Amino acid sequence: MANKTHKIAVIGGDGTGPEVVAEGLKVLEVVGKKFGIKYELTHFDYGGDRYLKTGKILDDSEVEGLKKFDAIFLGAIGHPDVAPGILEKGILLKARFGLDQYINLRPVKLYENVWTPIKDKGPEDIDFVVVRENTEGLYVGTGGNLKKGTKDEVAIQDSINTRKGVERCIRYAFNLARKRNKKKQLTLVGKTNVLTYAFDLWYRTFMEVAKEYPDIKADYAHVDATCMWFVKNPEWFDVIVTDNLFGDIITDLGAMIQGGMGIAAGGNINPEGVSMFEPIGGSAPKYTGKNVINPLAAIGAVQMMLENLGEEKAAHAVERSIMAACKKMLSMSAGKMGFSTTEVGDMVAEGI
Ligand code: IPM
Ligand code: MN
Repeated sequence: MANKTHKIAVIGGDGTGPEVVAEGLKVLEVVGKKFGIKYELTHFDYGGDRYLKTGKILDDSEVEGLKKFDAIFLGAIGHPDVAPGILEKGILLKARFGLDQYINLRPVKLYENVWTPIKDKGPEDIDFVVVRENTEGLYVGTGGNLKKGTKDEVAIQDSINTRKGVERCIRYAFNLARKRNKKKQLTLVGKTNVLTYAFDLWYRTFMEVAKEYPDIKADYAHVDATCMWFVKNPEWFDVIVTDNLFGDIITDLGAMIQGGMGIAAGGNINPEGVSMFEPIGGSAPKYTGKNVINPLAAIGAVQMMLENLGEEKAAHAVERSIMAACKKMLSMSAGKMGFSTTEVGDMVAEGI
């Protein structure tokens, strides 16, 4: 999108988040110059440190403020001194829900020379995308306890699935399968044999929408079997669509078969609004400040952000440079890459 100045909100967040974000921005600067992309960065200090200092998590007016941007680039959320759930729900999920980022797009692509734990599989076998529903399911946080702390305690956590929410996600996935133009196959991943309310809605909606996409093969797999096939036959997949929790779980497995958390990037997409791009891995507190964390996932998030902003050529250039960097690196794990965080960032930036 020539001439437009992209307004980008940057949230480094916790732990190693700011370090990897810095490398992403380094690459953005170089690719921006090369392709004449105009952009403006605004940094926000949302995260565990601000919470510990001020008690502020992420309030409604701050979510409103994020709506004024064209994209958000996020490092990581999660702090060792803050109880689990507070920041994850209060910042990450609040942003995903508040900005109605109803798609969590997670490509699983093995690049050449990147080690995969799957013997006998290579880049030609591992190249698919998971479309994870991102605003419903078990993540909505409704439910409650009764008689908490007693032997009669009851805990209920609901999975909310709306026709509207399920349908818009499925449509997005069909369109993506068409746009990718590879196997032209979309697999619904669910559990229709047990979750006979939630996945009945998913399955019926999927089959109805499928009629509008006769060029795309509509396929179904149970989530447990999917885990098996990710390892045994990852080449069977092209685009996968699934609910929030299943999507969360299978994309950690997906990240591992593509070389680990150091390389896996994702996008929280609102096709009609503001999207947020992040490395999938966490804040890795024990590595903070050590300059050892792999920034390729964050750089991959920049690639996805550029694509979302309509800067396809720049996005391709970033991916090519990531691929070239992979050929030079020894491994994807922290401390074993053969290069430091900043060196990997430099390598990708120079490769542009
Ligand atoms: C992810 C993370 C989050 C999720 C956590 C941190 C809330 O695991 O982005 O996959 O469960 O969605
Ligand atoms: Mn996860």
